[in-house]
Amino acid sequence: MEALVAAIDQGTSSTRFLVFNARTAEVVAHHQVEITQSFPREGWVEEDPKEIMQSVYQVMQSTCEKLQELRVDLSRIKAVGVTNQRETTVVWDKETGEPLYNAIVWLDLRTQSTVESLISKAPGRNKNHLKHMTGLPISTYFSAVKLRWLLDHVEEVKRAVERGRAMFGTVDSWIIWCLTGGRHGGVHCTDVTNASRTMLFNIHSLSWDQDLCRYFDVPMEILPTVRTSSEIYGHMSAGPLAGVPISGCLGDQSAALVGQMCFSDGQAKNTYGTGCFLLRNTGTKSVMSEHGLLTTVAYKLGRNQPTYYALEGSVAMAGGVVRWLRDNMGMVQSADDIEKLAASVGTSHGCYFVPAFSGLYAPYWEPSARGIICGLTQFTNRNHLAFAALEAVCFQTREIVDAMNLDSGGELSLLQVDGGMSCNSLLMQLQADILCTPVVRPCMAETTALGAAMAAGAAEGVQVWSLRPEELPHIQTDTYTPRINTQESEFRFARWKKAVQKAMNWET
Ligand code: G3P
Repeated sequence: MEALVAAIDQGTSSTRFLVFNARTAEVVAHHQVEITQSFPREGWVEEDPKEIMQSVYQVMQSTCEKLQELRVDLSRIKAVGVTNQRETTVVWDKETGEPLYNAIVWLDLRTQSTVESLISKAPGRNKNHLKHMTGLPISTYFSAVKLRWLLDHVEEVKRAVERGRAMFGTVDSWIIWCLTGGRHGGVHCTDVTNASRTMLFNIHSLSWDQDLCRYFDVPMEILPTVRTSSEIYGHMSAGPLAGVPISGCLGDQSAALVGQMCFSDGQAKNTYGTGCFLLRNTGTKSVMSEHGLLTTVAYKLGRNQPTYYALEGSVAMAGGVVRWLRDNMGMVQSADDIEKLAASVGTSHGCYFVPAFSGLYAPYWEPSARGIICGLTQFTNRNHLAFAALEAVCFQTREIVDAMNLDSGGELSLLQVDGGMSCNSLLMQLQADILCTPVVRPCMAETTALGAAMAAGAAEGVQVWSLRPEELPHIQTDTYTPRINTQESEFRFARWKKAVQKAMNWET
């Protein structure tokens, strides 16, 4: 019987569990549930850590039931990987096992004034003051400022720290701790990719950094142990997969890079989830961007394996825009309807939509930017708006690709894509048009989960994954080639850039 490997993919909008055939990489069974996001105040974005865990248990349970219906023996599952929304911050009490506050989601803007004050105090008011150690600009995006906020504002967190009962983690840490036993001996760990998004981690020495912790005034004793992305962290303590090792852990964007087999220097992928994240493997060198990109740990697949780095362009709003049109505007019933609406007109009719709901990330890093829709006329209808929303995702990616090209001194010859939103074929065609570059989508878009399952399978003591791409069916692809001329695409992009300037200076 062929071995199976599985992955929990806990994203910003949903949680999935996928079980793959370890030899062919085919999905044998999967289940997905949506996650509630709450917006208690302007700019705040929270999720309930308990709901996150319930969703994890639910997707595992439902997938296992589907496997049983297919008469697949669960004992064939040899390893489970965890991949997750990055930066989102959880603090819990190790004795009660209870979260001490909601998870503060990566998109959350509550720390904007803290960030502005940190930047104003940095030498030369330089937001890149810590970049040489962290690869990151000082921004609301990363975990350190979220943790600082929790330490300053939540009495329960302060008290738990004083009593030595607080544990901090990104979502991977929370999940692994709960799944390996929680307050009855759960393992408190994270991996190098997730740690590299906290701003407390030195991406060169691969360790928590005393100076960074002092800078953000964070007690080091509440931080998880940092492990590689592929090793046995612990075993499932209960449930249908009790006893199965958890042996892969990567932030979702790193996992997608692995799942897309971007193992060589120069290979890149763009994942369209709630946000949109373009990562380019830079090999074992950490390259510092001159054009607003981040430097991040891409993966380290085992204790004796080298550390790979990536340049990353992060876009805060991609699928999130569609969710906003559905939930806040009531414009569609389901996210899939957007494609139909947009396709029915095939143009934005000169309407530009900059969804800077959480400020603008790369390459601008401007937390005070706000969303803007411009170019409206009497003729504009919701179909044009749907088209403008999809085009916004493509323009934002174009900005990242341009920055990436400037940093690398070469042109990206094609864009490998994946993620839930990449199923939208209109979006993929638009992306090729706006980039003037072919876009290549694997038939199996769940590369994030695949990457985590691969890391889990490759861990010591567990059946090793076959890494020969020619054997893997998911490598089959659809290719979208540009259908408009460069002039047309440049014209639209120039208009987009004007709209971005308005989003950044909307108050003046
Ligand atoms: O950095 C945030 C990112 O990891 C979230 O990914 O897929 O939930 O948009 P996603």
